[in-house]
Amino acid sequence: MKKRIAIFASGSGSNAQKIMEHFKRNPEAEVVLILTNNPQAYVLQRADNFEIPSHIFTRHEFYETDDVIRLLKNLQVDLIVLAGFLWLVPESLLKAFPNKIINLHPALLPKFGGKGMYGDHVHQAVLDAKEEESGITIHFAGEQFDEGEIIHQSRFKIELDDNLEIIKFKGQQLEHHHFPRVIESLLKKMKS
Ligand code: GAR
Repeated sequence: MKKRIAIFASGSGSNAQKIMEHFKRNPEAEVVLILTNNPQAYVLQRADNFEIPSHIFTRHEFYETDDVIRLLKNLQVDLIVLAGFLWLVPESLLKAFPNKIINLHPALLPKFGGKGMYGDHVHQAVLDAKEEESGITIHFAGEQFDEGEIIHQSRFKIELDDNLEIIKFKGQQLEHHHFPRVIESLLKKMKS
C-alpha cells in the first residue's frame, strides 16, 4: 500500500505544491489531505487543482478537541508534513503521531528559530545578524517551535549585496528542491 502524506500549511503553499507534484505519480506515496487553519490560504486552491481534499480547522478544534487527530487516523496517514504551518503542534497530536511529523524552517536551526520566527521575519533576522550563509532545515516537530531532531539542512552563501527578496528566493529554491526528496527518503526508511 502507498504511504499516505498529510500536509499542513497556513498560506501560499508553494512547498505543498512541490510535494503534491512530486508524489502525483509516485508508486511509493501519495498526498491524501491538505489541512489549514486559514480559510483564505492559497494552498486550498492548489489542493483543488490537484483534486486533493482539504480540511479547514479552527483554533478551538485544533487545541481543544481530537477532531484533527481522528481525521488523520481515519485516513491512515503515515507522515504529517508541516509546510509553512504557523501554529504550534499540540502535544496530543505529537503523541498520536510520534516521529511522524516533520517541519520545514527557512534558516539553519538552531539559529533563527522559535516563536515569531517565520517567513520574512527569519530572513530579516539573518540579514540583521550579517550572517555569511543561510539555508533551510527539515526537522521532526517538537513541543516548542523549531525544536526536534534535524533530518536535513542545505545552505547557501549570502553575498554582500543580497537583500531580503534575494535571500528568500535562494531559500525557496532549496526548499522546493529538497523537501519532496527528503520526504521520499524518510518514507522509504519508515517501517510499513
Ligand atoms: C517556507 O519558506 C517555510 O520555510 C516557512 O514558511 C514558508 C512557507 O512558504 N516556514 C516557517 O517560517 C516556519 N517557521 P509556502 O507557503 O510558499 O510553502
